[in-house]
Amino acid sequence: MSVVPPPPRTPGRYRIALVCLGNICRSPMADVVLSARVADAGLDDVVEVVSAGTGGWHAGEPMDRRAAALLTAEGYDASRHRAQQVRASWLDTYDLVLAMDDANLADLQALGPADPARVRLFRDFDPEGTGEVPDPYYGGDAGFRDVLTLVERTADALTGDLLHVVLPTGHP
Ligand code: 4NP
Repeated sequence: MSVVPPPPRTPGRYRIALVCLGNICRSPMADVVLSARVADAGLDDVVEVVSAGTGGWHAGEPMDRRAAALLTAEGYDASRHRAQQVRASWLDTYDLVLAMDDANLADLQALGPADPARVRLFRDFDPEGTGEVPDPYYGGDAGFRDVLTLVERTADALTGDLLHVVLPTGHP
């Protein structure tokens, strides 16, 4: 599904939170990849990307070592991530709060009133599909590679959309 991101709450600034269950596999991968795409597009001064888990069990921990190994092999910096738990206030402060799966989205919606244009599935911005980013935690390496494929494709599309939504001219 390809939707257009909503306008920024504050002109000239765009804040995106990526959310999964534990904040050690999927949302950190999406965070690292989207941050890299945003930087490549010259938007890192105006677009903020963070990630969090609906649960706080892994708070303070680095990324899952399988996720970090794959990202590193693909040329990304996975070293800076530390897990944190999402806060209810994010529903009102971030321009987009993007859940990796349906359960993550339901957990976000349970935190308080959520604008459906801003609090939604990450893959709503996937130009070639829709639905969930499957949880790779209990599976093998192929699951992490599948996550990276979905995340890279969706991050590419979202970054292209942001150029138009954040910068009125569409140019950095
Ligand atoms: P994530 O994966 O939500 O993509 O970070 C998981 C991480 C940890 C657990 C489950 C899923 N866990 O049960 O601890």
